[in-house]
Amino acid sequence: MGNAPPPDEPLLNADPINLMRGWPSKSLLPANLICNAANQALADPTTAATGLLYGPDPGYQPCRSAIAAWLTSFYLPKNPISSERICITGGASQNLGSLLSVYTDPSYTRNIWIVAPAYMLAFRVFEDAGFAGKMRAVPEDEEGIDLSYLHEELKKSKDMDKENGQEVPRYKLNRPWAKIYKHIIYCVPTFANPSSRTMSLAHRTELVKMARAHDALIISDDVYDFLQWPADLQEGQSLKTMKTAHLPRLVDIDRELDGNAGDGFGNTCSNGSFSKIVGPGVRVGWVEGTEKFAYGVSQCGTTASGGAPSQLTSTYITLLLTSGALTNHIQFILRPAYALRYRILLEAITTHLVPLGFSLPQPNRKVVGGYFVWLSLPPKMSAAELTQRCREEENVIVAPGTIFEVPGDREGRLGFDGHVRLCFAWEEEINLARGVRGMARVAGAMLEELSRGGGSAPGFGDGREMVMNEFK
Ligand SMILES: Cc1ncc(COP(=O)(O)O)c(C=O)c1O
Repeated sequence: MGNAPPPDEPLLNADPINLMRGWPSKSLLPANLICNAANQALADPTTAATGLLYGPDPGYQPCRSAIAAWLTSFYLPKNPISSERICITGGASQNLGSLLSVYTDPSYTRNIWIVAPAYMLAFRVFEDAGFAGKMRAVPEDEEGIDLSYLHEELKKSKDMDKENGQEVPRYKLNRPWAKIYKHIIYCVPTFANPSSRTMSLAHRTELVKMARAHDALIISDDVYDFLQWPADLQEGQSLKTMKTAHLPRLVDIDRELDGNAGDGFGNTCSNGSFSKIVGPGVRVGWVEGTEKFAYGVSQCGTTASGGAPSQLTSTYITLLLTSGALTNHIQFILRPAYALRYRILLEAITTHLVPLGFSLPQPNRKVVGGYFVWLSLPPKMSAAELTQRCREEENVIVAPGTIFEVPGDREGRLGFDGHVRLCFAWEEEINLARGVRGMARVAGAMLEELSRGGGSAPGFGDGREMVMNEFK
């Protein structure tokens, strides 16, 4: 077929083109590197025994040290990151549960403030920890978070305390290694899931100050930071630059900014993961906070009983880090491959969807990355209808914005039926433009129907059910 464009008709009998799934590409999984690391770890009797037995609560020490050194070389904080600031986790999701069990009490911790649109699979973790009905959405703006909204709402909460008196933690014992925060703020400040927005440095700094003033813990999912590239990267241009992070994390700011609470726990933690840069099946992540904070997480009951999660795979990750294999994999394989996919997807969006009235957030930023692109739909177009019709008419799966709404807080600016999320990581390059062309055919037909006075057809619901079925 040479360079001929792929056929433009819907491929209804083939596998669907899945632009919803937020998984790493199968073809980019570093199975050979993991195989070498696993062989090396298991061939060494000491490492094998350590990996196969229960481990220390904060995790396999060589892995903590390797992560601390690797993060130091990427984020370049003023002072090196000590291994005591790191606790090994079973990934960001597992660790979110541990953080809530150690540092919150649903009778005392008033709200979980969630920057919205939000990573939808976090909602159930909050509900399971007793926060159903206490999740509140904070609108994301073009600088990453609407700080004045959050400030007003936190102030109202403080005023309520003045009127009603303070509650006390009822369900959690007073543990010497923990504290119970009054609020949790949950965000993905760099290449957010789903919006791909990045929070500005000024907003990061203000957010940390606000958290300090209101006894809040910021849980920052920093799972996409390593996947960054220049927004204007052209075809064939190499990715020599940007080997270090383009912005400090919230946890770096909390560490370096004067005036913390003085109790040693800090107000921010960075929830990191190898899922997006190695593979989610390794189930290894880390959390970074103050040394006292990291120790506290490690004292979560489930960890104190079984030892740190993912002990065996931590030995593999250690070797991937200390040999430089992972840094090379990110630099020479993942970033160029994902940058190319991003560029292909964006070109297709610009050609086929922007003329129909679709638009992207933060159009002028210099650095982009992560896994996702967030699109605003033309006026009056419903994402629930668009995504269902894409599935039925074009065999293309797209995530409707509605699934990223915070349960119980979906009104006005916090409802997202006017948006969709596309993932460029999972599908191979050839399917990205094909999927967008399918979307454009459906969107074009919907616009015609709208121009003839038709509204969104009934029966499309809000799209959540369809999506949850796709996940199973
Ligand atoms: C923001 C965010 N947090 C957490 C996760 C899950 O991470 P893990 O696989 O480490 O549990 C994802 C995966 O999509 C994510 O996008």
